[in-house]
Amino acid sequence: MAIVLPAFSATSLAQDQSSSAANGQVHPERWPEVAYPRIVNAEGEARIQALLSHMSVEQKVGQIIQADIGSVTPDDVCKYHLGSVLNGGNSGPGGNDLAPAHEWLALADAFYAASMECAPRDPAIPIMWGTDAVHGHSNIVGATLFPHNVGLGAARDPDLIERIGRITAIEIRVTGQEWTFAPTVTVPQDYRWGRAYEGYSSDPALVASYVGRMVRGLQGPPSTAPILAGPHVAASTKHFLADGATVDGKDQGDAVISELELRLVHGAPYIPAMESGVATVMTSFSSWQGVKIAGNKGLVTDVLKDRLGFGGLVITDWNAHGQVAGCNNASCPAAIEAGLDMLMAPDSWRDLYASTLAQVQNGTISMARLDDAVARILRVKERLGLFEAGKPSARPLSGEYDLLGAPEHRAVAREAVRKSLVLLKNTGVLPLKPSARILVAGDGADDIARQSGGWTLTWQGTGVDNSDFPGATSLWRGIEQAVSAAGGSAELAPDGTFERRPDAAIVVFGETPYAEFQGDIPSLQLRPELRRPIATMRKLKEAGIPVVAVMITGRPLYVNEALNQADAFVTAWLPGSEGAGVADLLFAGEDGAPAYDFQGRLPTAWPATAKHGGPTLFPFGFGQTYADGPQPWKPLPEDSQVADDGLGKGVYFDQGVAAAPWSLIVSQPDGGDTLRVTTVPATGLSGRATVTATDHGVQEGARQFAIESGEGGAAVEISSHDPVDLSRETNGDVLMLATLRIDTPPTASVSLSVRCGDAECGRPLAVPELRGLEPGQWRVLGVPLKCFAAAGADMTRITAPFRLTTGGRLGFSMSRVALGSADEADTVAQCPEG
Ligand code: BGC
Ligand code: BGC
Repeated sequence: MAIVLPAFSATSLAQDQSSSAANGQVHPERWPEVAYPRIVNAEGEARIQALLSHMSVEQKVGQIIQADIGSVTPDDVCKYHLGSVLNGGNSGPGGNDLAPAHEWLALADAFYAASMECAPRDPAIPIMWGTDAVHGHSNIVGATLFPHNVGLGAARDPDLIERIGRITAIEIRVTGQEWTFAPTVTVPQDYRWGRAYEGYSSDPALVASYVGRMVRGLQGPPSTAPILAGPHVAASTKHFLADGATVDGKDQGDAVISELELRLVHGAPYIPAMESGVATVMTSFSSWQGVKIAGNKGLVTDVLKDRLGFGGLVITDWNAHGQVAGCNNASCPAAIEAGLDMLMAPDSWRDLYASTLAQVQNGTISMARLDDAVARILRVKERLGLFEAGKPSARPLSGEYDLLGAPEHRAVAREAVRKSLVLLKNTGVLPLKPSARILVAGDGADDIARQSGGWTLTWQGTGVDNSDFPGATSLWRGIEQAVSAAGGSAELAPDGTFERRPDAAIVVFGETPYAEFQGDIPSLQLRPELRRPIATMRKLKEAGIPVVAVMITGRPLYVNEALNQADAFVTAWLPGSEGAGVADLLFAGEDGAPAYDFQGRLPTAWPATAKHGGPTLFPFGFGQTYADGPQPWKPLPEDSQVADDGLGKGVYFDQGVAAAPWSLIVSQPDGGDTLRVTTVPATGLSGRATVTATDHGVQEGARQFAIESGEGGAAVEISSHDPVDLSRETNGDVLMLATLRIDTPPTASVSLSVRCGDAECGRPLAVPELRGLEPGQWRVLGVPLKCFAAAGADMTRITAPFRLTTGGRLGFSMSRVALGSADEADTVAQCPEG
């Protein structure tokens, strides 16, 4: 589908003063001079052509495939001639996400050696390693973690963005990688999308004003000089194109928008990206008007490469080629023909290599297209200076571990935190006196993982705690330091209880970490359990204590109750490792005047209700300052205007209660007695099953089941009449997590299954891990959705995502059943063989 594209008038939106587009339009005929395709000089190009003429077809096919370090070894790289590796969000050296920095560098050396010293190898082509350094070198323990992009959007400071890019590149170089899958230049239009925080703003002009600066910070200025000769790495703009237009905020969805909107809104950031010579572009998982971008030749080849003159390499997202019509993870000639140069095939690379090789040999994929893809990859390697760079550990900055989280890097991150904070309300309590007695409450106050969000050490940013963040500062610690330095006192009490009456309280609350899929929400509000600190605010207010609310969040949400309760309200976004930047703004100096003023302004409008597309409470660009002085407050209506309770799609059972529209059912598998549990205590199976309340987290936060199943067995399930489609989550390595406690060990086997439509579907999984749980202990058991699929379940129409059956006696308690990722589980079930 070739689309016709007039000159990009969107550039007039770009405010990047340093770019040649600043004064109006870019003239397409000028593109080749501005940046591309001249990314290498004549000598380099000659070398590329010489290499190409010597490469075997096997080498060429290997070159265009990228494997994940969790599924590939250096020997494989040698044997299959792979051109690149990546570490996905949950991969680390030796399977350890939290591996120390030196292991990352050692692994980089091992992959490099496999590409260069693998005999007989003629010609030898150095491998390139890509990583998601999306807010600092965020997979590495001890690295500087900058605010996520939504916070940077609030800062309105392009110079800061370039400095952040530069520091990120330096820290990446320490551990030996050459390529980051950043910046994300999405222009999110629906903040129910769980990836919205990865974008700077919903405003294309604001995003465009940052992109060029970030690319320059990461790569250095556009030129043919080797990137690796300076303190730099290759960048990637993602996810091309219109990932932020996904309908209903559904991850990996469809952008049903006009070509004009595609170009003016979502295309705008690609202009400064091209001008700044971005080396790589990653395509989106999403579709435009029903066609997956990874198979859209019109957009990838005709627009990006031909029209915009992009001369670098285009890479697919994680197994995204498998979603292109007519493709699967193991085979996708259509993506290559569409213009994708490298396929990210994390675990599918081996089969993909074999099928692609066969398709080239039988002419399905043309040799010309393969040569073009390989040449583009080699040009990026040439531009990096990879052929001369030597092994990763021999390059400048490598192994200088002190640079990870170096004080001067952290100082910039702290500056970024200060600049990103948005003051939404201040009736006069701010700035606080640091010599006062300060109570710090709320469940988010002393939690660095939480303030860092997704894409931090682990994929979803879950499963880590403060001990995994050496050198970082939680919001609480930052406040404590500021207060004790000024002779005041600070007390941490998450639930807001205090011994001595404080002069003021700071209540930190908001979202918990999430990334892809997991962060998609049905409406713009917090889950019920995350609203508990608002009750704490209310209690403190009732006791006459002034309250400052600090919200950790990836997006603006309907929180009118908190806004009403608090005397001041600060949005901190996802500030990262330098929590002290928050205290910097909350307290006055010795002279009573604040040391810094607020400069953060909303990067997108703040909603008045939980409804996407509903009325706005604070417009784009809103943000109060100390200079404005205290402002009066008119109480807001506390009506979310939506029917859902904010639990989220992936939560089926929470605090012992089935989440709407789900029900908790105890039944006999072969029919007969069925009990729908609404109130407790309840009795079913003719008296052989009882359900009572028990405590977990909160009073009566769980349900306790005592089962004596007898002949027909017993089933406990969470089900609904309306099926849900879990195929996307199944693809994305999501697990069914059940928070359980075994009270009386089972006397017979226990299995887990799902139901599709009216029938149980797929073979029940034996799950010996469940029997292995230590009695009396609360544990989170995770079962990969893939196991149900492998056992034959049709994941597109699930009516019971959780179904436990047993044939004997069993006592257990359960508080929660929800989708989640492996790092949230204490025990992960293995899929049974066969
Ligand atoms: C994400 C990308 C990321 C890639 C590698 C994908 O699932 O969409 O943003 O770069 O994984 O981790
Ligand atoms: C990986 C991520 C990737 C995601 C895609 C995860 O298992 O760790 O990097 O983005 O899968 O679904």
